[in-house]
Amino acid sequence: MKFPSTRGKIAVKAPSHEGAFLFAGTWYSFYTYMIQKVLERNIAQALRNIGIEVPDHKVGFTVEHPEDLSHGDYATNAALVYAKNAGVSPRDLAVKISAQLTEISHISKTDIAGPGFINFHLNPKFFIDAVASILAEKDSFGSNVSGKDKQVLVEYSSPNIAKPFTVGHLRSTVIGDAVANILAFSGYKVIRDNHLGDWGTQFGKQIVALRRWGDSTKIDSIQNENGNEKMKYLVDLYVKFHDEADKEKESGQASLEDEARAAFAALEKGDLEATALYEKILAVSMEYFAGIYKRLNVSPFDTQHGEHFYEAYIPKVMHDLEKANILSESEGAKLVFFPKIGEGETAKEKYPPFMIQKKDGATLYATRDLATDKWRKEAYGPHITIINEVGIEQSLHFRQLFEVEEMLGYFKKGERIHIPHGFYRFEDGKMSTRKGNVIWLEDIINEAVKRAGDINPETADIVGIGAIKFNDLKRESSQDIIFSWDEMLNLKGDSCTYLQYSYARAMSIVEKAGVAGIDPHVQSAEDALVSGQSRNLSSLEKIMYRFPEVVLRAGVEHQPHYIATYLVELAGTFNTFYGNTVIIDKKNELSSYYVALTLAFATIIKNGLGVLGIAVPEKM
Ligand code: ARG
Repeated sequence: MKFPSTRGKIAVKAPSHEGAFLFAGTWYSFYTYMIQKVLERNIAQALRNIGIEVPDHKVGFTVEHPEDLSHGDYATNAALVYAKNAGVSPRDLAVKISAQLTEISHISKTDIAGPGFINFHLNPKFFIDAVASILAEKDSFGSNVSGKDKQVLVEYSSPNIAKPFTVGHLRSTVIGDAVANILAFSGYKVIRDNHLGDWGTQFGKQIVALRRWGDSTKIDSIQNENGNEKMKYLVDLYVKFHDEADKEKESGQASLEDEARAAFAALEKGDLEATALYEKILAVSMEYFAGIYKRLNVSPFDTQHGEHFYEAYIPKVMHDLEKANILSESEGAKLVFFPKIGEGETAKEKYPPFMIQKKDGATLYATRDLATDKWRKEAYGPHITIINEVGIEQSLHFRQLFEVEEMLGYFKKGERIHIPHGFYRFEDGKMSTRKGNVIWLEDIINEAVKRAGDINPETADIVGIGAIKFNDLKRESSQDIIFSWDEMLNLKGDSCTYLQYSYARAMSIVEKAGVAGIDPHVQSAEDALVSGQSRNLSSLEKIMYRFPEVVLRAGVEHQPHYIATYLVELAGTFNTFYGNTVIIDKKNELSSYYVALTLAFATIIKNGLGVLGIAVPEKM
């Protein structure tokens, strides 16, 4: 991320408090998410001082931001949790705990509320320091080093060759790209992998369709105006294959299906004609996908090997399975059965059996997945975490896969992660390429950009693509999305356009202030504090410092939506602040601080949308 150029120069100083630390030349506001830990430790100690046993690793209470900002900046339910053990009322215990809590850095006041919550208020200086750090850290504000020296492979997008890029793959691309960005922002070394579906029996069908009804030499001359005409040509053939095969079935013959099986078998054996057709199909698909990634403005992949590449590792996997003695034969097929859980009559296998090899010797999707992870482990070393961003309908597959990989000793618990995304639901039910009633992603992108362009042609791309991405990223990934144009391109409320607009507005204020000779600065707020002037803290100040905590959590839980919803909340507080405050005011000492707040806000929106893979317009 590059920081926007501003006309006013940024006058900042590095945070002076003990909580910040310098890493690779940048100040990190480590304190913003450490305060929670410090409070937790202090509260646990206070409880112990009162004679209550509190386990070290699992304190049992929470320290969270209260929903209502007037209740303070952090609150704990410790007294409610431990009142029973202490044999007193929660409120009485809260009083006792508070009495034990002396001086905690950054905390100016503690009070007791409701049935026994303890609320903590950060001191006013803390907020000013936080603004100074935001301006100092610029485009790295919000980052953290939790992933330092750790390596993670994020596999996402993974469309299937010779098929349209579906909205399911769109979800995987958008969420996977955001997760990879967040982890990189958290200090991880990230490998971005596109696991292309480029092998399997369906390619026999595609080869037959192209051979029978198509003309592979003609494909090159098809004009690819929208980037998908060549692809449409292949997909139409694929749909025709199924129509014809259905007709055949009705009349009792089945030669097309047989021909397709034979074509795939020939491809596997390296037959020249089948290979040439396959390579044509592959080239058309890759060109088509590349166009989509460019349009969506996602980061480039580090690797795009595809399933076929890993086939060479299947013999090694078979060997490992034999050696671990977990392969069973059933009617000629090879499967892994999972151990039983529960006891006696009710005992049940943990998962249904995992098929590794069919009775005709053919391997499966599952086998290729095992081979893929074996390869990755060898290529990237033993300490790698692997994340698959794949639809929720494959959840069972991944649970089985991870279990088998543990049985084989490939991975330990927690080193394999599946981030499932829910369905995009359309009024006419699930989409299918076979039936030809698929919605092409390009049509969605084009429509989004067109609608955004009707409002302002200059920002059409940034706003249109941003809308598509944010519409997805603002919700927990496993949730379904009911497809709605109005919601996707909604210009109000929790939409991307609202955030982009707020950013542009903030940047134009900073620019105007620069022209008026007011530079962003926290000094005036510090002076006011020192001279004892009281100033109402804005909600903006109380929300901005939390950004690094939100990024950290989004990274740990692999959920970009925490960032998305945080940004919406933040923009709301900025717009309230903007409504209540005369920001540029030469007669007001604090004006430079208000400009600093405005620039800090813009910085967070830019960094936040940036890790979500969304650009901001300088003007709107
Ligand atoms: N190509 C697959 C599909 O479109 C997704 C692949 C997911 N990754 C994996 N390692 N199985 O359904």
